[in-house]
Parts: sequence; C-alpha cells; structure tokens
Amino acid sequence: MSKAYTSIAALLVTAALGLSLPAMATKMPMKSYHKEIFSDAQGNVECSSCHGDSKPYTIPSEEACLTCHGSREELAEQTQRPGHGAAYEPNPHDSLHYGQDLSCVYCHAQHKKTQVYCNHCHEFKYPQLKRR
Ligand code: HEC
Ligand code: HEC
Ligand code: HEC
Ligand code: HEC
Repeated sequence: MSKAYTSIAALLVTAALGLSLPAMATKMPMKSYHKEIFSDAQGNVECSSCHGDSKPYTIPSEEACLTCHGSREELAEQTQRPGHGAAYEPNPHDSLHYGQDLSCVYCHAQHKKTQVYCNHCHEFKYPQLKRR
C-alpha cells in the first residue's frame, strides 16, 4: 500500500517536472569553468562526480570538491593576502570567524548564482571570484 503510494507519488513528481533524469542532466546549468571537464563526449554532465550517486537531489559533500582542489590548507595558501588590514579583503578560505572550516558550497554555487556568504553581513567585493 505505502509502496504503491510512493511510486505513484514518484511518477507524479516526474510528470510534474516533465523531465527524465538524462533530460534533466542536459538542462542543469553549470559554471563555465566546470562545464567542459564534467561533460562526456555527448555533452552530458556527469552528475555523480560531485553528487556521488545517481540521484542528485541534495547538496553534494565538499569532499568531492577537495579531491580535485587540494586540502583546505592549500586553498587557504592559494588565496593568502599580501598583507593585513583594511586595504585587503580577508582571505575567504581562512577567515576570522570560521577559519578554514566553512563549506565550499556556502559561497561557490554550481547551478545558481554564486554568492559570498560573508556578504550577509559584510560588503566584500572579491573581484577574483568566478561567478559564472
Ligand atoms: C573532477 C575534479 C573537480 C571536482 C570534483 C571539482 N572541481 Fe572545481 N575545478 C576543476 C578544474 C579542472 C577547474 C578548472 C581549472 C582551475 O581553475 O583550477 C575547476 C575550477 C573551479 C573553480 C574556479 C577556479 C578559478 O580559477 O577561479 C572553482 C571556484 C571551483 N572549481 C570550485 C569547486 C567546488 C566548490 C567544487 C565542489 C562542489 C568543485 N570545484 C569540484 C576540477 C574539479
Ligand atoms: C567564504 C566564501 C568561500 C568559501 C567558503 C570557499 N571559497 Fe573558494 N573562493 C572564494 C572567493 C571569494 C574566491 C576568489 C579568490 C580570492 O578572492 O582570492 C575563491 C577562490 C577559489 C578558487 C580559485 C583559487 C585561485 O586560484 O585563486 C578555488 C579553486 C576555490 N575557491 C575552491 C574552494 C573550495 C574547494 C572550497 C571548500 C573547501 C572553497 N573554495 C570555499 C570564496 C569562498
Ligand atoms: C561541479 C560539481 C557538481 C556537478 C558536476 C553537479 N552538481 Fe548539482 N550541485 C552542486 C552544488 C555545489 C550544489 C549546491 C547548490 C548549487 O550550488 O546550485 C548542487 C545542487 C544540486 C541540486 C539542488 C539541491 C538543493 O537542495 O538545492 C540538484 C537538483 C542538482 N544539484 C542536480 C544536479 C544534476 C542533475 C547534475 C548533473 C547534470 C549535477 N547536479 C551536477 C554541484 C554539482
Ligand atoms: C552573521 C554575520 C557575519 C557573517 C556571515 C560574517 N561576518 Fe565577519 N564580522 C561580523 C561582525 C558582527 C564583526 C565585528 C564587526 C566590528 O566589530 O566592527 C565581523 C568582523 C569581521 C572582520 C574584522 C574586521 C572588520 O571588518 O571589522 C573580518 C576580517 C571579518 N568579519 C571577515 C569575515 C569573513 C571573511 C566572512 C565570511 C567567511 C565573514 N566575516 C562573515 C559579522 C559577520
């Protein structure tokens, strides 16, 4: 009974979205800097490289990001500022409040607009940040 209900619900959801997973795959917007490396020969994006399973409905674990981008320490080093003080925007990968612990996806979105988490409270510009 409950099983039947679940599969009917699943069908309704699929119908409402009007998409099967492969169709969805081609429609998911990707950042320009990732698009190519995550696409196969047919141009389909490999969802599992970040999402880790065949049903990418949740925000991926940042372990996926770290396997390619190095450790948190290395990232913090890459974006180290030449000095301290008001003339420099703070290192996003090693900040006063969170150290190196803030999850990547707080700032680097993939399918939607990238927004710097800090700017809920601050007004940092971060001109180097790739937003598209
Ligand atoms: C399969 C390896 C791989 C995975 C997994 C991956 N990336 Fe990337 N990423 C790359 C490559 C390759 C580039 C392009 C070269 C570069 O700029 O380092 C890139 C580029 C980027 C850039 C732009 C870098 C720049 O030059 O400004 C950001 C930001 C980024 N990735 C963040 C992430 C985040 C966040 C995740 C996890 C959600 C992630 N990446 C997962 C390989 C990966
Ligand atoms: C607080 C927001 C924030 C978080 C959290 C964050 N980043 Fe970034 N990231 C930035 C900003 C801003 C830049 C632009 C570079 C700069 O300002 O020096 C950047 C740049 C990068 C770059 C390009 C580095 C370069 O060569 O200049 C990569 C790669 C990257 N981030 C990956 C990650 C990964 C992986 C994580 C998670 C471990 C992460 N970021 C967490 C804000 C963030
Ligand atoms: C480069 C890593 C990466 C790849 C590849 C990727 N995603 Fe994502 N996905 C993310 C990140 C990061 C988020 C967090 C929200 C955002 O940035 O849009 C996310 C969020 C999502 C969400 C929304 C989850 C939520 O609760 O907001 C869906 C649905 C999704 N991805 C589907 C897909 C599909 C389908 C594919 C394959 C076409 C795919 N993703 C490929 C990184 C990735
Ligand atoms: C929830 C709000 C909030 C968020 C999110 C936040 N901050 Fe702050 N931050 C504050 C407050 C409040 C202060 C104290 C301001 C003061 O006393 O002048 C502060 C102070 C600072 C300072 C000390 C220098 C200054 O500007 O006063 C730095 C540097 C800083 N934050 C960086 C960051 C970075 C980097 C991030 C993102 C990784 C971030 N903050 C996210 C609220 C926040």
